[in-house]
Amino acid sequence: MENKRHTLYEKVAEDISHLVNKGTFRVGDRVPSVRKLSQQMNISITTVLEAYRLLEDRGLIECKPQSGYYVRPSFSNITSEPEISKPSAKPTKVNINELAMLVLKNTRNPELIQLGAAIPNPELLPVDRINRTLSAITRRYRIQNISYEFTPGSKSLRIQIARRALIAGCSLTPDDIIITAGCQEAIMLALRVICKSGDTVAIESPTYYNFLQAIEILGLRALEIPTHPQHGVSIDALRYAIEHNTIRACLFIPNFHNPLGSCMPDEKKKELVKMLSEYDIPLIEDDIYGDISFSYQRPKVAKAFDKNGNVILCSSFSKTIAPGYRVGWIVPGRFKAEIERLKSISSIATATPTQLAIAEFLANEGYDHLLRKIRKMYAKNTVLMAEAVSRFFPEGTKVTRPAGGHVLWIELPNAIDALKFYETALNAGITIAPGMIFSSQQKYHNFIRLNAAIWNDKIKEASATLGRIAKGITQFKEQS
Ligand SMILES: Cc1ncc(COP(=O)(O)O)c(C=O)c1O
Repeated sequence: MENKRHTLYEKVAEDISHLVNKGTFRVGDRVPSVRKLSQQMNISITTVLEAYRLLEDRGLIECKPQSGYYVRPSFSNITSEPEISKPSAKPTKVNINELAMLVLKNTRNPELIQLGAAIPNPELLPVDRINRTLSAITRRYRIQNISYEFTPGSKSLRIQIARRALIAGCSLTPDDIIITAGCQEAIMLALRVICKSGDTVAIESPTYYNFLQAIEILGLRALEIPTHPQHGVSIDALRYAIEHNTIRACLFIPNFHNPLGSCMPDEKKKELVKMLSEYDIPLIEDDIYGDISFSYQRPKVAKAFDKNGNVILCSSFSKTIAPGYRVGWIVPGRFKAEIERLKSISSIATATPTQLAIAEFLANEGYDHLLRKIRKMYAKNTVLMAEAVSRFFPEGTKVTRPAGGHVLWIELPNAIDALKFYETALNAGITIAPGMIFSSQQKYHNFIRLNAAIWNDKIKEASATLGRIAKGITQFKEQS
């Protein structure tokens, strides 16, 4: 009897898997409710629940409380992933500014298909709603709107940010928060307050090139730490690095890292925060992608495990509402007085109208609905682009399987030089981000990052073109 029941729920699970594999239910779709499936298949509710539990364990579907079961993004048809990175264990001066600026220059050219910059999909941003809110704000707060909103920034916005922090596991008050002109300014303020010229900053390897540019311009050194494309920075490697170097700060992206897409499990974040606190090394945490989790629940921030203000949390609304509004924030922890002073001296205040507009937008409670839409679309687009890379790129190509965000990190066969690839792609009207700009050690010469925020026929065609270019370079190398 027991055996028979087993086979029944397994069979139901197989049937649903089949429908997902054949596209009847796609990523983000809701599968039939437990009650409906039990009626349709004439089986008990318990059997359906067991089948759905099995599919959850296999990572095929997920349960959203009070809503139902949904198909999760699946990278099952994707080629293998890059391995954990192996950077040199020595701190290095950074020298990527020139190359990074050259690459960035092309991201403003509307004639090109932009796969190089990690820009959000404008169709997913609440363009009309936020602009309408802004114009209503300018009418309603005529004088306040043109006045300084002195540091730490709009109280109503800080209240909204503090409320949302609860979802990321953080209990904050508005006084814990300072508004900044985007996440990058927050990072810069933290680095400038904590470090002085010549100091070493530990970073993930690879990492977001603007971090490297900031480190370079401040005369700091970068120490790259091995980082796993799924679980983030290696704590053992970091401990070793700390014991053999004087590290002034760590600058990490624990949630949906750019470019790796990795997400540190919460337990690992806890361990990281505890270890850094014991060594008295501040953690500058960039959580700009934290809200863009492909599963319905966003991960916690490392700041959630902070007991003594050693974690400085930086983020913004650039990926989810409006990058051009330049509204971000910093939770400066034990560096509050210095960061507040530096912000005030360097820019007096963040622009008022956009702060007020975003505060109003958040107060109107449409943000969670918007996030659901963004998450679903990015999950789908990222899988579709990874599938295209698996199909069109040469054998031996590896691609990440991010659990959030909207970028893919791609390891090409060793014979392909990413800079040559970048130039050839540019001639074909497509931008990509070459791997070297993500490293202080001139590593990743055969890696590229692609932005997967948008998926349409034009991007599909561009992916095929990139695959042909990559194959062409490989064949040329083999013949010469
Ligand atoms: C990891 C990371 N941090 C910071 C930024 C910059 O954010 P903002 O535009 O809010 O300054 C970006 C933008 O792509 C990013 O990817």
